[in-house]
Amino acid sequence: MDTVQKPLLRALSGEAVWPPPFWLMRQAGRYLPEYRQLRAQAGDFIALCTNPVLAAEVTLQPLRRFGMDGAILFSDILMLPWAMGQGLRYAEGEGPLLDPIRDAGGLAALDPGAMRARIAPIIETVARVKAGLAQEAPKAALIGFAGSPFTVACYMVEGKGGGEFANARRMAYADPVLFGRIIRLLVDSTVDYLLAQAEAGAEALMLFDSWAGLMPPGQFRRWSIEPTAAIVRGIRKVLPDIPLIGFPRLAGPLLPEYAQRTGVSTVGMDTGMDPRWAAANVPAGFGLQGNLDPQALVAGGAALEAEARSILAAMRGRPFVFNLGHGIVPPTPPDHVAALARVIRMG
Ligand code: CP3
Repeated sequence: MDTVQKPLLRALSGEAVWPPPFWLMRQAGRYLPEYRQLRAQAGDFIALCTNPVLAAEVTLQPLRRFGMDGAILFSDILMLPWAMGQGLRYAEGEGPLLDPIRDAGGLAALDPGAMRARIAPIIETVARVKAGLAQEAPKAALIGFAGSPFTVACYMVEGKGGGEFANARRMAYADPVLFGRIIRLLVDSTVDYLLAQAEAGAEALMLFDSWAGLMPPGQFRRWSIEPTAAIVRGIRKVLPDIPLIGFPRLAGPLLPEYAQRTGVSTVGMDTGMDPRWAAANVPAGFGLQGNLDPQALVAGGAALEAEARSILAAMRGRPFVFNLGHGIVPPTPPDHVAALARVIRMG
């Protein structure tokens, strides 16, 4: 199908497509038995992300079941620091663990020059998914992604998730020169990484800033909005029209300013955002994406349907992409995803 006719790309380019296209953050993952099987086959999570055949297969699995309008590359935001040489492992039940960077020596130990070679398998996954979509789901668009510099820096400095990133947030105040060097390295490498994904076939790009909302407004502008704007400029220099989605989670009332100052074309709404407020306050030219509570998807039934319908009602007439307010969680019954897809398709 002609790229410009794909419903997701039309919505991300500012058209109020109805019923809205949909995809779900973490749509590939542990809630699907077929994912768990390939994950076991691959060994560990990094092995899965760097195996283009298996990673492409995992990317396509949810589309086969549920017919999403978008396929998101199967990888992780932390594969970028991994590709620059930072020690990373995913411990069962604990989430990601990195060798933390706490000083200039830690930063100097990274090898950004190694990045291109180490991300090669991920870029190959993009190309494989693109070919797979042409065969299996020609109306679906391929979404590439990266973490936003602040969120990736949180993990790089802290060495783990699961808390409030006290060390990383403190470094941003106490040593803004060092923190700024980490952020700049991430801006440059993220532009390269996303352009490589686009060149391999990604048709839209998303930046996940999952922890942006941990910062007060001044820090948010400096460490979330400004670096994101720099990435957007770097990408737009080469690809002026590619749809860009920014997701500054927990940004609250700063969401409209983030939309206008970063230059992204669509903004993601997190679970707590009132979609009516977003529709009234984010200027009409921007697309909106979100924001069903992942727990409503676990619960299912009438509650799921009511929540989905209220989001649809708030978004009617807007360029809109239905999604969750954060990622799918492992206990989600796949049947509930199918039920949600039916509700969305009714519009
Ligand atoms: O389907 C998709 O959405 C595409 C793949 C994807 C993953 N992670 C796969 C993954 C994407 C887009 C991400 C983004 C990501 N990764 C974010 C931003 C979005 C968010 O959730 O806030 C963040 C903060 C990470 C970092 C990360 N990766 C954490 C904190 C964890 C552990 C928590 C968990 O769910 O296990 C991961 C691991 C991870 N990333 C898994 C998957 C499928 C689970 C790994 C496994 O199979 O054991």
